[in-house]
Amino acid sequence: MKNKFITITTHIEGTPQESMFEIKTQILPPIESNDVIVKCLYISIDPYQINRMKHQSSSHTSVADASKITPGMEINSGGVGRVVASENSGYVKDDIVYGSLNWAEYTIVKNENTLRKLDTMEEFPLSYHLGIFGTSGLTAYGGFFQVCKPKKGEKVFVSAAAGSVGNLVGQYAKLFGCYVVGCAGTKQKVELLKEKLGFDDAFNYKEETDLNSTLQRYFPNGIDIYFDNVGGEMLEAAIVNMSPFGRVAACGAISHYTNSQKQATANMIDIVYKRIRIQGFLSTDFYTNDFKDFMSVTTDYVRAGKLCVLEDVSHGIESIPSAFLGLFQGENVGKKVVQIAQE
Ligand SMILES: NC(=O)c1ccc[n+]([C@@H]2O[C@H](COP(=O)([O-])OP(=O)(O)OC[C@H]3O[C@@H](n4cnc5c(N)ncnc54)[C@H](OP(=O)(O)O)[C@@H]3O)[C@@H](O)[C@H]2O)c1
Repeated sequence: MKNKFITITTHIEGTPQESMFEIKTQILPPIESNDVIVKCLYISIDPYQINRMKHQSSSHTSVADASKITPGMEINSGGVGRVVASENSGYVKDDIVYGSLNWAEYTIVKNENTLRKLDTMEEFPLSYHLGIFGTSGLTAYGGFFQVCKPKKGEKVFVSAAAGSVGNLVGQYAKLFGCYVVGCAGTKQKVELLKEKLGFDDAFNYKEETDLNSTLQRYFPNGIDIYFDNVGGEMLEAAIVNMSPFGRVAACGAISHYTNSQKQATANMIDIVYKRIRIQGFLSTDFYTNDFKDFMSVTTDYVRAGKLCVLEDVSHGIESIPSAFLGLFQGENVGKKVVQIAQE
């Protein structure tokens, strides 16, 4: 069977370009004992993959899914697919599964632990299992409730707030009873946050010249929780504006991923005297203890119309590189997914 897949042509250090990706065709080897062959229906497109594509990054030695990718290699990611052949007693043809699939039409899954059968919940699109019911949702839920440890009424600031994780953090925080301000990179995104997602306020960071005074304007009495998706100068400004005993959830640093000059220089004196806690975390930290609770709360909220689902879907395996590049240009609104095949 022929299989198209996407790979990189070179390690990527700065801003990714389309020319750094290529589509290749391979012939799938014969299925072996325990293998499951999965046809990919939807694949998740995520900023963290850029760190895997670098020569060197602490990503490479963190968790298996963030390990190094070298030119020519298949690129695995969260995906939803249909089993087309199985030599594994746990799976049969036509099972719908979630797992670590490749940026490819088909994936031979050799490690069944990276796969699980999906409770497809027919009222929802399968793609939701990559966003709101998947890693983005769990990251937002675990990051906000376990890392930030919010109290009702606290003041929360979220960056990349119209993105996949950010929009959910803001919505969970509002539902919990916090005051929430988000920032995003366009006027339309800012309107969406305020009009549709219920944020108390929002601003376009690209129009601001002095982020310290911007945050002072939105949080005259200080920020209790900063959910950081971007790092860089926004993190520096948030720290200056944190309240005593404020918490910073270091979820991601996208401004830094493609520009090493953007690394934040945090004001350590502020951190000491205001007793600010900054904690990094990975979504995998929450799978064992929080996944069940997260799914139950989140499905209830979506069914009740209390959580709005933002998805941004492109079509066809050829669109993967441009979908990925778009993340770093702010082109996506909500969860970026590529539909590779019809359900
Ligand atoms: N810790 C974890 O386990 C975990 C899990 C998932 C994601 N993450 C991290 O969380 C962050 C958000 O991920 P996501 O999947 O939800 O992606 P996303 O927010 O849906 O997409 C990325 C967004 O980041 C913004 N952006 C791009 N370049 C930027 C820059 N230089 N400065 C500021 N903003 C920029 C863009 O929105 P604008 O229009 O607003 O610029 C873009 O739409 C990323 O840093 C990601 O690595 C961490």
